[in-house]
Amino acid sequence: MAHLFSPIKIKNIEFKNRLVVSPMCQYSAEDGFANNWHLVHLGSRAVGGAALIITEATAVSPEGRISYADLGIYKDEHIAKLKEITDFIHQNGSIAGIQLAHAGRKASHEVPWKGNAQIKSDQPNGWKTYSASAVPLGEGEQAPIELDKAGIEKIKADFKAAAIRALQSGFKVIEIHAAHGYLLHQFYSPLSNKRIDEYGGSFENRIRLLLEVIATVQEVWPAENPLFVRLSATEWTEGGWTIGDSVQLAKILKDKGVDFIDSSSGGNVKAQIPLKPGYQVEFAQAIRKTGILTGAVGLITTPTQADEIIKTGEADMVIMAREMLRDPYFPLHAARELGHDVKWPDQYERAKLV
Ligand SMILES: Cc1cc2nc3c(=O)[nH]c(=O)nc-3n(C[C@H](O)[C@H](O)[C@H](O)COP(=O)(O)O)c2cc1C
Repeated sequence: MAHLFSPIKIKNIEFKNRLVVSPMCQYSAEDGFANNWHLVHLGSRAVGGAALIITEATAVSPEGRISYADLGIYKDEHIAKLKEITDFIHQNGSIAGIQLAHAGRKASHEVPWKGNAQIKSDQPNGWKTYSASAVPLGEGEQAPIELDKAGIEKIKADFKAAAIRALQSGFKVIEIHAAHGYLLHQFYSPLSNKRIDEYGGSFENRIRLLLEVIATVQEVWPAENPLFVRLSATEWTEGGWTIGDSVQLAKILKDKGVDFIDSSSGGNVKAQIPLKPGYQVEFAQAIRKTGILTGAVGLITTPTQADEIIKTGEADMVIMAREMLRDPYFPLHAARELGHDVKWPDQYERAKLV
């Protein structure tokens, strides 16, 4: 059997294979509401055979959106369409996961196809942004407001309310987005966190908000459902967060009941990243040695490459983004290439054998 197509059980949830659709912003929502784009985008990847489909970064508050077109889960009214989407995913044999996110200082930006620039808070579609410290993302950008204690409590309450809504929306997995330079990453990174209170300075202080967010989510998220955390395993920058820090953090997260680390990297500061196929796999492997389950992501594009990662024990799941955009049926095609027989949707059965 191809290793990529061996099932895996995490908590009470059975995943039919090791292929995960990575969270990918679609910048296609209005006021956070999902619509038919999200249904078709996520739904086609369920039809395509991935075991787990994780929504794009879904904002826990309006000011936590990267752009005005991000998906959100900050209103009860968001639940109905999300439930339609999770029902479709589950009816088609995949598991629906949601990435809960707060963009921090990376919020209030234009959508990529309109240039990505920061939208100043006094401009249409712009708002004030918040972070660990008042350190702007880039030159010429408006600085975020340093979160005070009440602001930090609001962040935790927003994640908790979002987790309740995620459950009501039918999601079976939550992934907390603590990577790519978004709010929780801004707190644990010494490059963006310059605080002098109990949320800044030492390693223990900088990871405090992430641990508190996890604890508050766990108050409402069923213990039998998987809880994932996406980390930027390294910042690729002298003086920044390192893979050693990530390994140390992973041990703590495992003790706190986190099930799975999705091991990405970068995104908080400009850095030279040595891009090559599977360039982040080594981080998943290093973190996996702590005994926690991991996912490898980043420039994984072929069935053999993905199968090797599982076979050699570098990671427990393979998380793919751009290749899944190029080919929503990648899992079905990968199974054929690896000589593994998987069930195709009944409606497509006649196309299975060429
Ligand atoms: C269109 C697009 C949107 C993305 N949006 C998100 C996101 O919402 N959350 C996230 O954690 N990563 C996001 N990413 C990063 C991917 O999840 C993934 O980590 C990255 O693209 C590397 O994987 P790949 O080489 O398979 O594309 C996005 C990537 C793309 C291409």
